[in-house]
Amino acid sequence: MMGVFGDYAKYYNLLYRDKDYQKEVDYIENLIKKYSKNKVQTILDIGCGTGNHDVLFAKKGYKICGIDVSEEMINIAKSRINTLHNINFYIGKSESFRLGKKFDVVVSLFHVMSYQIKNESLYGSLKNAYEHLKADGLFIFDFWYGPAVLTDRPSIRLKELEDENLKIYRIAIPVMHPNENIVDVTFEVIIEDKINNNVNKLKETHRIRYLFLPELEFILKNIGFEILDILEWMSVDKKLSFNSWNGIIVVQK
Ligand SMILES: C[S@@+](CC[C@H](N)C(=O)[O-])C[C@H]1O[C@@H](n2cnc3c(N)ncnc32)[C@H](O)[C@@H]1O
Repeated sequence: MMGVFGDYAKYYNLLYRDKDYQKEVDYIENLIKKYSKNKVQTILDIGCGTGNHDVLFAKKGYKICGIDVSEEMINIAKSRINTLHNINFYIGKSESFRLGKKFDVVVSLFHVMSYQIKNESLYGSLKNAYEHLKADGLFIFDFWYGPAVLTDRPSIRLKELEDENLKIYRIAIPVMHPNENIVDVTFEVIIEDKINNNVNKLKETHRIRYLFLPELEFILKNIGFEILDILEWMSVDKKLSFNSWNGIIVVQK
């Protein structure tokens, strides 16, 4: 049986085609320019998925390495390298991969750290990011922010998408586990092949942990990071609030 981001991987880029990866990469680059003490040439992306951020970072001239636990996602990422020479993708688990080299910046984007639902995997992943950084290197990651998730709780959502070959309906059904700070989001996806009228279905449950600042601060400082900034995702000056579902944090080794 495939894990999460198994069958789902094939439809990932279509499902998230409205996500503005270019804008996100520009945003992260601005944070890097604002906070990095080092000249930044190398970036490691933990949970890189299909490589959407990585290809754009590589086009900006950075040397990029992407790691993801899902073989299916990495296969798609690898198929997109084409003529880019400054980019590499590897299969690996955030808490245990070892690349044997250190980077100027580590990023982990689109809730990857919130996928680390156990304390051990969250701690291990943050610690492993630290181990892969040069002195003074930055680690930048986003996460589901607890106070906002509990204020505006997840509800059932339907998404419909279409390209020239496929029509996709995705229903997202959340179940909350208040004592574990976890939301199980079950994605039921119906895929209609417009060419041969075949209908396929898939179902995956993604377990996502919403995080709170005191626990994050405790873990990050314990590992040795200094916290430089905590913001609402995609904002340059908004502090986190009950309305910030997605937070971003910049820490330095
Ligand atoms: C929502 S996707 C984000 C992918 C990519 N960063 C993006 O922005 O499109 C979450 C990714 O995290 C990966 N992931 C989750 N847990 C992981 C772990 N422990 N180690 C490595 N990758 C992980 C999944 O396989 C998936 O590709």
